[in-house]
Amino acid sequence: MIGDKKVLFSGMQATGNLTLGNYLGALKNWVSLSDEYECFYSVVDMHSITVRQDPATLRARARALLTLYIAAGLDPEKNCIYYQSHVSGHAELAWILNCFTYMGELNRMTQFKDKSAKHADNINAGLFTYPVLMAADILLYQADVVPVGIDQMQHLELTRDIAQRFNAIYGDVFTIPEAYIGKVGAKIMSLQDPSKKMSKSDENPNASIYLMDDADTIRRKCKRAVTDSEGVILYREEQPGIKNLLDIYCACTGKTPEEAVKEFDGCGYGQLKEAVGEAVVSVLSPLQERVKELSKDKAYLDGVIRSNAEKAQYISNKTLRKVQKKVGFPERPRQ
Ligand code: TYM
Repeated sequence: MIGDKKVLFSGMQATGNLTLGNYLGALKNWVSLSDEYECFYSVVDMHSITVRQDPATLRARARALLTLYIAAGLDPEKNCIYYQSHVSGHAELAWILNCFTYMGELNRMTQFKDKSAKHADNINAGLFTYPVLMAADILLYQADVVPVGIDQMQHLELTRDIAQRFNAIYGDVFTIPEAYIGKVGAKIMSLQDPSKKMSKSDENPNASIYLMDDADTIRRKCKRAVTDSEGVILYREEQPGIKNLLDIYCACTGKTPEEAVKEFDGCGYGQLKEAVGEAVVSVLSPLQERVKELSKDKAYLDGVIRSNAEKAQYISNKTLRKVQKKVGFPERPRQ
């Protein structure tokens, strides 16, 4: 708790072009929860270097992502929006938690398996211990709730296990976090292969809608979405392409799948695709406008970056000092 509010933590990587999946699965929920909780939203740039990055591109993308958080409706006066690399506690706590995490646990992480298959020439230790850094992110702020898409659930389970293990030895040091998974949009699938999640690293540009795609591109990608030959619009597992389009439609419009199925009763797939395209455009176009506007205000963004990093550093230090004391590090001399 901070004051009388529970704590929320979440983060996003500044790697690649963000997709509609990132927005509907995470960012959109962050905004809807932001009044209720004391929130920390991090641009997790330290996670990004587990795969090789061009330094200037990473810096530019991190800034664009921070801008996007604000443009999406997160008020940086009320929410702590900051770069992970500006707060030293993330790395310091991660080291300690590494010593409370088993190789077997990390070996089971599906994201590690996927990423090491994709980057076979660079299976570095950071890629392997990535979930421990993520646990540190969350536990450092004593987060009660972590809004994420379904693909991050396994990491969140591990975070809970590490926290419980630590607490069992040292007493109640960490709050045990809960995942918050949105009702719709928690797993947006590829438009070209609805058995795979929509991903920023997909090689086929038609598989993903990028947050910065222009309106015509969005419409075209929706029109080309892979469906099936059933010819009916129902929300069910047997029609993964249609189900995904309905999910996107519902997440963008706030309608339930039942309402959407009723609305499209008797319609053809072409009509559904068109409506989905329009629904996505109506969400992303205003967002893109706000990003453009906000990016111009360099001084404002620099001020946010400075003051929020200080706040995050101050709050995270409380947990860090407590943990350091618990594990037996000597007290720091007063300055
Ligand atoms: P990342 O950067 O891959 O994704 C950011 C968020 O977007 C969600 N997401 C999706 N949701 C629905 N459908 C999709 N197709 C889709 N693709 C991505 C993700 O679930 C995530 O919520 N390890 C994390 C970043 C992280 C983090 C943390 C998250 C680092 N530390 C602490 C929460 C708390 C990641 O790589 O997310």
